[in-house]
Amino acid sequence: MRSMVEGFPLMLKAGRLDKTTLEEAEHNRQKGIDGICLVGMGGSAIAGEICAAYLSDRSAIPVVTFQGYTLPPFVNERWAVIAVSYSGDTDETLSAFESAQSRGCPTFTFTTGGDLEKQAKGTPIQKLTTGFQPRAALPLILSGILPLLEIILNLQRTDLESAATDLERMSKDWENMPFTPKQLAKDAMGKIPLFVGWKHLTPVAYRARCQMNENAKVMAFNSELPEASHNEIEGTASCGEFPLLPVFLRSTEEDQKTRNRFEATLEIFSKNGCNPMNLELGLRSRIQESLGFTFFLDLVSIELAELRDVDPLEVKRITELKKKLRKTT
Ligand code: PA5
Repeated sequence: MRSMVEGFPLMLKAGRLDKTTLEEAEHNRQKGIDGICLVGMGGSAIAGEICAAYLSDRSAIPVVTFQGYTLPPFVNERWAVIAVSYSGDTDETLSAFESAQSRGCPTFTFTTGGDLEKQAKGTPIQKLTTGFQPRAALPLILSGILPLLEIILNLQRTDLESAATDLERMSKDWENMPFTPKQLAKDAMGKIPLFVGWKHLTPVAYRARCQMNENAKVMAFNSELPEASHNEIEGTASCGEFPLLPVFLRSTEEDQKTRNRFEATLEIFSKNGCNPMNLELGLRSRIQESLGFTFFLDLVSIELAELRDVDPLEVKRITELKKKLRKTT
């Protein structure tokens, strides 16, 4: 898992859309659609979440993510559906994909195979490289989904190649920062991490939580500002009872109002004994922040797994649950 995570920047450079996908994307762009729905679960969902948040200020139509069995009714034949399942055998994704097909939505599929590949026959399928854990394939999936979205939405393409090169270079300096991934993992030992994000870093906070769950096998939570100011902040009254590690993901894009909110929230967390930390990586653009924070926190999850002496690769409980459910259907 460590080598998969360390290959993050390299994987980002690997995305190539094949001819059928490109043609269908271009067709959808010309025809015009009402929205795009990204379907997938767990490690296969997160690339969509990050892309949707990254594009939220630029897209003229809704780009939504869906994690479940039946697509919401507003997803009709005027919507494009992008289904992602690394294994191609995830129940919820297969079911949502089926509803997309029955509603006549144009579909795009990212998978290594499984039933999803069979179900998607005759439509654009991007085959993913096998041999990864789904969550570790995030950069690979993102490097396909982001250009696909940008083509359909007729937006200027993000230069992922340069972003990946920058990330490779910048990550070398992380060992010299006050908080290295290892240090943050040490601080998280015996605590419940709570990742707080804002805007494009909201799904990154969610990703960090999932990586702590799946790789380091610990409970972890995520929340977002400004919403958390209206509920979670009251929970800080119990910080003395529960060992929490709040990590605030700080963006250089924060406007004054948001900065004030972060600072005031941090003060209240501190006053209540929650010992929050500001995570600042000094990244310069939105794409660098989305990718850089994700990469950094992925590394933290690996360090934490190592400190806790657990195997980040195996996901026994997810597999157990999938088996149990298969028996009931
Ligand atoms: O990272 C993981 O292993 C999980 O979160 C899976 O991604 C999730 O269970 C869905 O499976 P798949 O990605 O094969 O659709």
